[in-house]
Amino acid sequence: MRQAGRYLPEYVELRGERDVLETCRVPELAVELTLQPLRRMDLDAAVLFSDIMVPLQAIGLEVQIAPGVGPIVATPLRATRDLARLRPLEPETDVPHVLEAIRLLRKELAVPLIGFGGAPFTLASYLVEGGPSRHHERTKALMHGDPATWRRLMEALGGLTLAHLRAQASAGAQALQVFDSWVGALDPADYERFVLPAMRELFEGLRDLDVPVIHFGVGTGELLEAMRRAGGDVIGVDWRVPLDRAWERVGSDRGIQGNLDPAVCLAPWEAVRVKALDVLDRAARRNGHVFNLGHGVLPQTPVENLQRLVDLVHASTEREPT
Ligand code: CP3
Repeated sequence: MRQAGRYLPEYVELRGERDVLETCRVPELAVELTLQPLRRMDLDAAVLFSDIMVPLQAIGLEVQIAPGVGPIVATPLRATRDLARLRPLEPETDVPHVLEAIRLLRKELAVPLIGFGGAPFTLASYLVEGGPSRHHERTKALMHGDPATWRRLMEALGGLTLAHLRAQASAGAQALQVFDSWVGALDPADYERFVLPAMRELFEGLRDLDVPVIHFGVGTGELLEAMRRAGGDVIGVDWRVPLDRAWERVGSDRGIQGNLDPAVCLAPWEAVRVKALDVLDRAARRNGHVFNLGHGVLPQTPVENLQRLVDLVHASTEREPT
């Protein structure tokens, strides 16, 4: 999940007035922002400092991330003719800074580095709506109103993310996460028809890499069975679905990641502890649970709660040496 962020004063200081995407283009800054949370907490993995919008900007779309709002796309994609603006990504020339940040990080890190990219639906939602959206109305109108254009859009975005993820793995990323953050806006039938084919192709395209892949979405309780079929070694879930129930839907042959409510981390420590232990109880010490928040860290979160959380999870899951 988003590990870096405004909850850390050193993040706020280093980012300054720079745009998130501009920051992502400077490898030295991306490296430093990736390392900041690890200096504060005994984390088991590092999340590359980047953004799902990076490859879209890299192929020439005008994208900005407005503070407190999210990604804004100056000229949204709404019709067949707009698809011409989505050219394929050539990672070595389009996102050399991402690959450079990964290479530099691998020299510094003692824990695995997680690279990531946006899933076609979530990227399409930003591109079609022009920004964050509560109801995804234009996206759904395109999907249902012009299924042929929708399919081409999904294929183009899937191809872009596939190229981006494969390049990150070649540069040294040791795990990959696909963020389909907003796919929970769909019902299972629409997911199956309009999203699953492109997702399956994406995960198929990553299969020959020797890198575990995490498949994450928010509000996906009813989609988990279909997401499982789409692919991913680990399925990431938010807090709205109890972890044990989610794992039943995902199947015991897959790992599960999650799922403490990030807002709970703003409560007094005792409340955080109770909720974290509930997540661990539901995981029941089975192999394949990656403890995580159910979504990104919120800016007002006390760092101390996160530090204690990491230590609590380690203390509660320590195993006897075999
Ligand atoms: O180092 C790390 O931990 C990596 C951090 C990371 C960023 N973006 C940097 C960032 C990750 C994993 C992402 C992925 C991302 N970006 C997703 C998928 C994950 C998710 O949270 O669902 C999405 C949907 C985006 C698009 C995006 N970028 C949003 C919605 C926002 C929030 C805007 C806001 O201010 O509320 C961003 C900005 C962004 N990208 C921030 C970070 C650390 C926060 C901006 C800031 O605090 O400076």
